[in-house]
Amino acid sequence: YGTQTVNDKGHLVVGGCDAVELAREFGTPLYVMDEAFIRQNARAYVQAFRERWDRFAVAYAAKAFFCTAMAALAHQEGLHLDVASGGEIATALAAGVPAERLFFHGNNKSPDELALAVASGVGRIVVDNLYELSLLRAEAARQGARPRIYLRLTPGVSAHTHHYITTGQLDSKFGIPIETGDALAAVREALRTPEVELVGLHAHIGSQIFDLNSFRVAAARMMAFCAAVRRETGWTCSELDLGGGLGVRYTAEDDPRPIEELVAVLTEAVAEQAAALDLPLPRLVVEPGRSIVGEAGVTLYTVGAIKEIPGVRTYLAVDGGMNDNPRPALYQARYEVVVANRMRAERVRRVTVAGRACESGDILVHDADVAADVEPGDVLAVLVTGAYNYSMASTYNRFPRPAVVFVQDGRAEVVVRRETWDDVRAHDVLPPRLRPAG
Ligand code: LLP
Repeated sequence: YGTQTVNDKGHLVVGGCDAVELAREFGTPLYVMDEAFIRQNARAYVQAFRERWDRFAVAYAAKAFFCTAMAALAHQEGLHLDVASGGEIATALAAGVPAERLFFHGNNKSPDELALAVASGVGRIVVDNLYELSLLRAEAARQGARPRIYLRLTPGVSAHTHHYITTGQLDSKFGIPIETGDALAAVREALRTPEVELVGLHAHIGSQIFDLNSFRVAAARMMAFCAAVRRETGWTCSELDLGGGLGVRYTAEDDPRPIEELVAVLTEAVAEQAAALDLPLPRLVVEPGRSIVGEAGVTLYTVGAIKEIPGVRTYLAVDGGMNDNPRPALYQARYEVVVANRMRAERVRRVTVAGRACESGDILVHDADVAADVEPGDVLAVLVTGAYNYSMASTYNRFPRPAVVFVQDGRAEVVVRRETWDDVRAHDVLPPRLRPAG
């Protein structure tokens, strides 16, 4: 995974840094992000498009992992940003990313967020529904601006891990369905709305996808819809945003396709349909999140109590859990673990890695094989935690959230500092009538 190696002490090394020393220096739990690996993935997307397509944007999906440093890094690599909230917009702007480079998503953007997007000049607002269009229209009129928009559509392709199905797609909280005729009606409505400029269409079919054929089908359906719209309204879709969704390898059983192959499939499908339907080649946009940061992340924990229930199982407790990684509890997600200070030991002890939150469901990994001599105080590393871990972390039980460090060439820098108990209660207000007497 990434630039992970093992040094002569038998310690895990990430981005040239000894994981055991990182744990000692910055404490645990600790999110470690391999900066060079993030850059390498970003470059793989940009390079693959450069070789195949004239007008494109690779918009990093901030939801996967975001903080001011990540925004700046993505910008340095020439990525645009997919943002999904006022908080993500504010973070991007604080990092010096020009608003023009943002794609603003969400199925229920608030009036305040729309006002911020219009005022700051967000590049593309991806309008999810007609109610949002009416809110945006009013806001644009108020500010005397004319935001550029995409309409988010559901192309009737629902991607699952290993196959795609074409039914059930109507049932999504996101976007406007093509198959019901609503999408065409929405395009007409947007074209009748002089306060906005409709420049493109958007579709996102899912996440952690291994089967590139779902992307091919979605791209083809979107192009077919562009042709239908052109016939019906005369409007030409000049920008097509095909979302994110490329899978990564969490365990040996996962078999994701390389970034370059995804880009090849998308560009081929769009070029083929453009030729067949006599459409101009649109500017192509993708919004990868997980495939840029997922495999670049490792979470370090300190091993605590090891509880052996004879004949049943052994629980190995760590000092984090569902607070910093809710994915196992939410999605039954599976992870690989290693004991970072015993990388040379044979992995023969079967344990269940338990978190420390007050609920039984807080299990990080079921049936992990770890070093036989693992003991309290060891550093346990859960691999491939770069996407949807820090960004989905909570303070359940009032556990402060961990720090994030970027590592590269043997250097480690904090990019998000560890929360303190004071941070956790920073927004608490104690009404005078509840103050302790005396
Ligand atoms: N674009 C849109 C409109 C999206 O909704 C998403 C993800 C992406 C792009 C990026 O998708 P990616 O390349 O990361 O697959 N919390 C879940 C994943 C939720 C994905 C939500 N949308 C998880 O931990 O698996």
